Amino acid sequence: MSTNGTNGHRSDEVYKDIAPQVLLDFGGTASKARVRGVPVYGQYPRALIAAMLPWLGCARNEVLHVCSGSLPPGEGIRVDIRPEACPDILADGRKLPIASGTIAAVMLDPPYSEHYARELYGVKYPRPAQLLREAARVVRPGGRIVIVHYFTPKPVARTRFVKAFGLSTGFDMPMRAISIYEADGGQGSLP
Ligand SMILES: C[S@@+](CC[C@H](N)C(=O)[O-])C[C@H]1O[C@@H](n2cnc3c(N)ncnc32)[C@H](O)[C@@H]1O
Repeated sequence: MSTNGTNGHRSDEVYKDIAPQVLLDFGGTASKARVRGVPVYGQYPRALIAAMLPWLGCARNEVLHVCSGSLPPGEGIRVDIRPEACPDILADGRKLPIASGTIAAVMLDPPYSEHYARELYGVKYPRPAQLLREAARVVRPGGRIVIVHYFTPKPVARTRFVKAFGLSTGFDMPMRAISIYEADGGQGSLP
């Protein structure tokens, strides 16, 4: 049986993991809203962060949110490249001013295409692999990383793929993949 390169998983095994977990989360999000006077797009469904905590194995306020957009003050540690998002840390998610191995868990919600990056945010498209590599650097051993995107990126070095969920935010809206990875060095205690 051939492997698909994701840490030796057979493609049928990966699909088996993903398919039963499809979660249809209709509503609870706004595709466009104004937050503190600034238009934002692609907000998280309201319940998403709480739903991720059992997978992340840390407290809500310990999560590093890279590409944090409209997340409010007090929602973990917020990093965004745009000053108008008023993040806690104004930085590029591909080069974080954070020491290696110090963060409990990371959630990434970048623009989903070059077009969105340019037209919605006026920035260069950060490729998922670049963001994942930097997240893998700052997260502590065994720490989890979640990325929300239109696809499930291949695991980067020193991480393993854990699981992916499908997320729908409404009829006629594109699905998003919520993909979870774990940095090497964990105790295997998380689901
Ligand atoms: C899809 S929105 C995030 C929405 C957020 N989840 C929410 O609930 O409001 C994408 C965000 O990524 C930010 N962004 C784009 N490129 C970035 C980069 N290289 N580093 C950090 N943030 C970036 C944009 O400024 C934008 O706020």
